[in-house]
Amino acid sequence: MTDAVKVGFIPFSAAARGVLVVFCDDALKFGPVTGRALGAAAHVVKRAAANRFKGKSGATLDILAPEGLKADRLIVVGTGKAAALKDSEFIRLGGKIAAMISAGTEAVTVVAELPSGTLKAAQAANLAAGIRLRAYRFQRYKTTKKDGDNAPLRAQFSIAVSDVAAARRAFAPQNHVVDGVLMARELVNEPPNVLFPVEFARRASQLRKLGVRVEILDVPAMKKLGMGALLGVSQGSEHDGRVVVMRWNGGKAGEAPVAFVGKGVCFDTGGISIKPSASMEDMKGDMGGAACVVGLMHALAARKAKANVIGAIGLVENMPDGNAQRPGDIVTSMSGQTIEIINTDAEGRLVLADVLWYVAKKHKPKFMVDLATLTGAILVALGVEYAGLFSNNDTLAERLAAAGQETGERVWRMPLGPEYDKQIDSKFADMKNTGGRNGGSITAAQFLQRFVDDTPWAHLDIAGTAMGVPASDLNRSWGSGYGVRLLNQLVADHYEAKR
Ligand code: BES
Ligand code: MN
Ligand code: ZN
Repeated sequence: MTDAVKVGFIPFSAAARGVLVVFCDDALKFGPVTGRALGAAAHVVKRAAANRFKGKSGATLDILAPEGLKADRLIVVGTGKAAALKDSEFIRLGGKIAAMISAGTEAVTVVAELPSGTLKAAQAANLAAGIRLRAYRFQRYKTTKKDGDNAPLRAQFSIAVSDVAAARRAFAPQNHVVDGVLMARELVNEPPNVLFPVEFARRASQLRKLGVRVEILDVPAMKKLGMGALLGVSQGSEHDGRVVVMRWNGGKAGEAPVAFVGKGVCFDTGGISIKPSASMEDMKGDMGGAACVVGLMHALAARKAKANVIGAIGLVENMPDGNAQRPGDIVTSMSGQTIEIINTDAEGRLVLADVLWYVAKKHKPKFMVDLATLTGAILVALGVEYAGLFSNNDTLAERLAAAGQETGERVWRMPLGPEYDKQIDSKFADMKNTGGRNGGSITAAQFLQRFVDDTPWAHLDIAGTAMGVPASDLNRSWGSGYGVRLLNQLVADHYEAKR
């Protein structure tokens, strides 16, 4: 992983090294430990702050060579009204801290104390998570100019807390979740000549090291199962497709699993309905759903989640060649339902149709959540702030919405209904793979719903959130890793046996 920061915890009593980071509220007040650490420098802060820095939440004040302090640099982070900060907001504050540290800085000490007193273990853990998320850069293919946002952060962050053991305990599972997010980002950022389906499957299979069971379906296996929808997309590529099914059994033996399904189109040219050249390179990220599922499985297995979980991904490349699928073709999906291909660029739903059906029938999960960079239309509807949520189950939808609020990986529910479903009836087959311009994200979801039967199901259209999102407090890389924290939260809140 291109992630060179280290984050650990030290006791308040340890001497601060390198850059010193402290918190103050909007009355420019410090906690007692902070006040002692600053000594005479506390007055410098008040002076420096006189005009612009008001201690608002997330605001920062940067003081070089502060008088009366050994540190060569002091960073003061505002907390606003500290009492009003939710635990989850400390992730963002961690991001703000990492943002202040430039490449080459060696040591950073963060005094984890609010004016009102010491940070709770969960808050300190969130700070650490935010630091790591913000510090990530994808630089594998940068061999010469490593400057600006490309320069690797090599800092060691020490977060000074009152109870080191408690902070470490709180951070351990979160640290695994961060690893999962960075893993998902890494997969999305990788170029498509490197990350084709077989290579993607190989990387997913490394989860075996964590005790995840990984089953890989190759082309003959998929043919045998009758996955004609997925195979039709894949047939125009030199690279064979794969389905990877990962299973983490952390719950009760025999208990039905929860399931996550990801669209893994390693590159989407559009096929014969070829896309325009402008920004086509972005379609290397059309496997963001699958990347999320792999990152999520990593997070859950590494933190030994007490749940039985299936992660299934459909990996293909959508290419135009002499053997490529044509508009007008009719394919038979594993469910037996036939599909008339209208537009070969509506390929994600074809891939998911067979994987959803396979997972529903083979594993009888409590629910399925699929993630897919499915439609450009969801960007038109929701921009890059929310993923589109479609569901046949209100409880599942509400739980996802709540997990979205908690993690900041937000979802917005969109409608489903028989009127929309009609739009994909076909003259020649059971359905067609596009429903016209109107409600494009909805008709795509209707298509998926025809392959889930009665299984409680939710579909997340992450075309707007998985990649190319504006730089934020928690992410500077093109691939966002969207969904890993969201779905980890969903599992933790509702589907894990209590410890
Ligand atoms: N992978 C694209 C959707 C997409 C677009 C993802 C922009 C990320 C950014 C998907 O396979 C696609 O091409 N969808 C078509 C569907 C249409 C042909 C019905 C679209 O959105 O235009
Ligand atoms: Mn497409
Ligand atoms: Zn696509």
